[in-house]
Amino acid sequence: MRLSSRLPHGFEPNALTAALARLRREGRAVLDLTGSNPTRCGFVYPEAEICGALSGPTVLSYDPDPQGARSAREAIAAYHGHNLRADDLLLTASTSEGYGLLFKLLGDPGDEVLVPSPSYPLFDWLARLEGLHATPVPSYFHDRWHLDLGALEAAVGPRTRAIVVVNPNNPTGHFLSTTEWTGLTSLCAKSGLALIVDEVFADYALEPPADRLPTALLDLEPPCPVFLLSGLSKVAALPQLKLGWIAVRGPEAAEHREALAFLADQYLSVSAPVQAAAPTLLALAPGIREQVLTRLRANLATLDAALAAQLRLSRLPVEGGWSVLLRRAAVDGDEVCALRLLEQGSTLVHPGSFFDLPGDGHLVLSLLTPEETFQDGLVRTFPYL
Ligand SMILES: Cc1ncc(COP(=O)(O)O)c(C=O)c1O
Repeated sequence: MRLSSRLPHGFEPNALTAALARLRREGRAVLDLTGSNPTRCGFVYPEAEICGALSGPTVLSYDPDPQGARSAREAIAAYHGHNLRADDLLLTASTSEGYGLLFKLLGDPGDEVLVPSPSYPLFDWLARLEGLHATPVPSYFHDRWHLDLGALEAAVGPRTRAIVVVNPNNPTGHFLSTTEWTGLTSLCAKSGLALIVDEVFADYALEPPADRLPTALLDLEPPCPVFLLSGLSKVAALPQLKLGWIAVRGPEAAEHREALAFLADQYLSVSAPVQAAAPTLLALAPGIREQVLTRLRANLATLDAALAAQLRLSRLPVEGGWSVLLRRAAVDGDEVCALRLLEQGSTLVHPGSFFDLPGDGHLVLSLLTPEETFQDGLVRTFPYL
């Protein structure tokens, strides 16, 4: 039977994933420097409080609101501040689901969204599965990452519906500057586009420049529709609880919220327990985030100490987020290099090409990696770089 043309032609793993599976089958101990699942990184979660919040008596009642439980939305609005109200929010089961709802809201099949690249690789599929096309528009690195506003403007066509940015970006860590924000919102207003801003990593500023935009919510009245995405997966390092949200601002926000609630009403996908627990989970989040931030800073310091003794290797600044980009002399392709590190150094890193980094010479490491693994991984891989 013919399946939807939205699906990939095959589901074969890429060469790196296949090699990793083979080495693990052979019993090889591989150090993973790519882990982004915080529940496997050795953080100490307040287990009793989390489990208690998820098992209170209210979790037994079902009183669905397509926008999400008001008590959860009030807690999220208070977490964000900047005059955000519970009414401005719509709950989702994840940020990915948020993208799906927004692409359904904004586009017809065949329409496109522009995505500054390099960025989060899932956009391509999230757009395709809604019948849209995600068009990458290269950003450039000059001392720090910059959006190419001219290239974005030139890329706007008759079927463009939105621009998607991640603030700070994954994996480059780039925070939008306030100037970039003004340029982006003016371009969207002028071209009739919506602006989708993913701020899942906004709490993780590491080397933030002075002119960064800490959050798009600082702009109380943007000139274009703004949809801000976030969720517990990064805000509280609790991806397994499946709670995300969309904050809606800008012109016609009330109409957009109503349409989003209609879309969400067809699924009602957010579980009652996580909605009931959200106020407690958000109250616990700062303590969890502090552990994550301590880890990110420690691994960055370890990397800098290791790089000090290297002539051929360096790293790019990490304005924020959970990743660091290692720069090396591109004597071979990034994927070939990552395969070599895996086979010869028993260490897994991601090639920059997985995130559409231009050219060769970039490897992506997760700063969330447990400290000892991170340090051992550097010791094992540096001789092969
Ligand atoms: C930029 C970005 N947005 C969203 C997500 C996923 O969030 P969720 O688990 O809420 O779907 C990730 C996960 O790594 C991410 O990097």
